[in-house]
Amino acid sequence: MKSENQLMEKIISLCKRRGFVFPGSEIYGGLANSWDYGPLGVELKNNIKQLWWKRFVQQRDDMVGIDAALIMNPKVWEASGHLKEFSDPLVECKKCKRRFRADHIDPNYENTNSFDKKIKCPDCSGELSEPRQFNLMLKTFLGPAEEKADVAYFRPETAQAMFVDFKNVLETSRKKLPFGIAQIGKAFRNEITPGNFIFRTREFEQMEIEYFVKEEEWKNSFEHWQKESWNWMTGVLGLKKEHIHELEVPDGERAHYSKRTIDFEYDYPFGRKELYGLAYRANFDLKNHFKEAPYQDIEAGENLYPHVIEPTFGVDRSVLAVLCDAYTEEAERIVLKLKPVLAPYKVAVFPLLKNKPELVEKAKEVYEHLKKEFTTIFDDRGNIGKRYYSQDEIGTPYCVTVDFDTLEKADVTIRDRNTAKQERIKISELTSFIKEKIYD
Ligand code: GAP
Repeated sequence: MKSENQLMEKIISLCKRRGFVFPGSEIYGGLANSWDYGPLGVELKNNIKQLWWKRFVQQRDDMVGIDAALIMNPKVWEASGHLKEFSDPLVECKKCKRRFRADHIDPNYENTNSFDKKIKCPDCSGELSEPRQFNLMLKTFLGPAEEKADVAYFRPETAQAMFVDFKNVLETSRKKLPFGIAQIGKAFRNEITPGNFIFRTREFEQMEIEYFVKEEEWKNSFEHWQKESWNWMTGVLGLKKEHIHELEVPDGERAHYSKRTIDFEYDYPFGRKELYGLAYRANFDLKNHFKEAPYQDIEAGENLYPHVIEPTFGVDRSVLAVLCDAYTEEAERIVLKLKPVLAPYKVAVFPLLKNKPELVEKAKEVYEHLKKEFTTIFDDRGNIGKRYYSQDEIGTPYCVTVDFDTLEKADVTIRDRNTAKQERIKISELTSFIKEKIYD
């Protein structure tokens, strides 16, 4: 346990030191569990989001995307059941007043629905209150008056917009079943116990798909998205298969809308926890939002409520899993063995010596050339070994060094991050060489 905690501390420290993730509002003492993505973190996160969008929206004929408002009409949340059902059981310490999720500190709570009174406050051993349901919707007011009529909510999932916009999307895209609507965006939950770095926060990002099918097709579609989720995790993100596990969520523990759910869990350093989910929402949402069946099935000559398979992917949990999988300590170096396609910088360019203007000039020329194609960084600080280690730590897959031979032969050395091996290659072949390796 100790070494696992140490690993998490090392990852958090690297993230801060190298500009992946900083504590939010730090100069004001921070804001509990809020995190900001820095220059490298935003590149990594954007790479994940772009790959997801390309794979699941742009490269498929049966998918379209939307980008909806974060704050929707409160009636949406009445109809979706979130105002009534979207809650967690909370217990409060009578002594120190800290609050905990009953199901997190009493492992039997979910099965028995009764809280073990012998359990004391994990922080001060004080007596705990009876559990009460705490709604997770993050409330705000629209307009100057903070009155009941002006209450609104930040969306707790991106999914609802895909249901509410269903007819508009259908009419404008002319899609036929089966088809899906996808969205990437922020979601907000007033979590009782946020924590574990970017794992559980009150503001986070989701990549979600609502895939609409005829009822009789749901099982096939569920299996399809189960496979697609695995391909995404292991193939695209490159997560190690042995770190991912499927959990069939039993009756009584699923979200209020779900008839079947699989959680994809990942072995984080702090334990095995949910990474993504896959749910069969049946026609629950469309039925609640539309009085009349919104889909006209011309062949069958009837209107119907399509059923929904929902693969849902947390962006921040993707970033965290990718970082945990990639973090490697070797003899003298720390290496982030990210899949090259995810790396914030694909290539770094160095002049062998900083004080030789002809080398610096040539290195800048190579840098400008590569920058057109890849995220590229130029570095002439310190000695070459330190520059390599510095790039290893942020996962840059290739380092290119311009030396005296370059001036004569128009070639450079290129070093591979994982093996630390170097080879010589013509400048004219650099782009195609790197491209081939990165987008394999
Ligand atoms: N639309 C379905 C839905 O929202 P969920 O399992 O509640 O399902 C989906 O959330 C995904 O969003 C999770 O699998 C996780 O990756 C991410 N997620 C949920 N709550 C989160 C939080 N508080 N912080 C970070 N990510 C979160």
